[in-house]
Amino acid sequence: MSEWSKSSWRNMPRIQMPEYQDQAALEAVEAQLSKYPPLVFAGEVRRLRDELGKASRGEAFLLQGGDCAEAFDQFSANAIRDTFKVMLQMAMVLTYGAKVPVVKVGRMAGQFAKPRSAPTETVDGVELPSFRGDIINELAFTPEARIPNPQKMLQAYTQAAATLNLIRAFSTGGYADVHQVHQWTLGFTEGQKAARYREMAGRISDTLDFMKAAGVDSNRSAALHQVNFYTSHESLLLEYEEALTRVDSTSGKWLAGSGHMIWIGDRTRQPDGAHVEYARGVMNPIGLKCGPSMTPEDLKVLMAKLNPQNDPGRLTLITRFGAGKVAEHLPRLIETVRSEGANVLWVCDPMHGNTIKSGSGFKTRPFDAVLREVREFFAVHKDQGTIPGGVHFEMTGDDVTECTGGVYAISEDNLSDRYHTACDPRLNASQSLELAFLVAEELTALHQRQAAVAAG
Ligand code: PEP
Ligand code: CO
Repeated sequence: MSEWSKSSWRNMPRIQMPEYQDQAALEAVEAQLSKYPPLVFAGEVRRLRDELGKASRGEAFLLQGGDCAEAFDQFSANAIRDTFKVMLQMAMVLTYGAKVPVVKVGRMAGQFAKPRSAPTETVDGVELPSFRGDIINELAFTPEARIPNPQKMLQAYTQAAATLNLIRAFSTGGYADVHQVHQWTLGFTEGQKAARYREMAGRISDTLDFMKAAGVDSNRSAALHQVNFYTSHESLLLEYEEALTRVDSTSGKWLAGSGHMIWIGDRTRQPDGAHVEYARGVMNPIGLKCGPSMTPEDLKVLMAKLNPQNDPGRLTLITRFGAGKVAEHLPRLIETVRSEGANVLWVCDPMHGNTIKSGSGFKTRPFDAVLREVREFFAVHKDQGTIPGGVHFEMTGDDVTECTGGVYAISEDNLSDRYHTACDPRLNASQSLELAFLVAEELTALHQRQAAVAAG
């Protein structure tokens, strides 16, 4: 393999990236960004790699979630707080089911660039370049808005820095309080599933009461009061990634300073492409999206390139096949991993294989299909004797109506009520929590099977 540098991706074929028209303007932005501080630090990234390594062995569980695309005009403290809060609530429910620590990773503070299914978009006979995320161009349907503008990278950096600043404050500032558990289920007063939710919340709260009675002051326990919360995004706009790449002074290794974890999308995972080239040289944990077209041959090459040392925690395979297709596609990838003796973390993204266009024209995802793909993921891993190590969602703390179904059944007719996503449809707070309870049940069942085996 040829030598890696933070710009060696430039020698490889690239797709899904903008053609900037003004090279001088682009270079000026790159020069400026390369002087800015990195957003994350090597020690944090190493700790996340450790935690993901544990998840790959079933000693932890990954919860990764957030916006499909962060948007400049939806940037606010409340939006960050609400998404952070729902993630914590989901994590608490999962911890209860899994009986292991939950590793919390936001699709936040850098998730701005989007791959698109077509390079152009046609509306009423007018064809324009596609919107590629706020870090690249603008959503408005005018020729000017769709011109890629390198200045937007600076605004994305600023928004990411401010987002991360607030997340760091929330993580250590007492926001993550487990005693809120009853509050979270207050909304769930109707529907057939409500009773089950209240029961789990009751058990969590009984446990806290018991600990208090036994003299454990949970208010003073850092583990119940503070959290480690990491950031992640798709490493798509490589000019931005390269400009934030830094050397870790402790180890001498290269670090993507743009976020703790980065992933390679299902559309840009060509083994000889620019995106794989960039990712292979940085020390961050790498996610690799695996859709139905992932072949065993490609996976083999990708694992060798992205994790030559076979370190647990380095490589996360995020599978996204669509409900009804997991049993068809996942076993061959598991077989490849097994035959290579590779250490990977298996994670389910039940969102990207389940996107449809509703009758009313909105892009949506039926919540039932999302739940079904999660169940199928657990079922295949159970059959194969492998470890389901995490889940990856597009969600928001806002009360949006973007995915159909859920406890407060959102119909296709309701989609227009509060449809705010800048890209793909997200689960709202109540759907996210409902999903967490489903995953918790799967994890409880897994935990009970493991305990039964251990007991002989
Ligand atoms: C995404 O995660 O937003 C995305 C585009 O996913 P995928 O690459 O799996 O389609
Ligand atoms: Co998406």
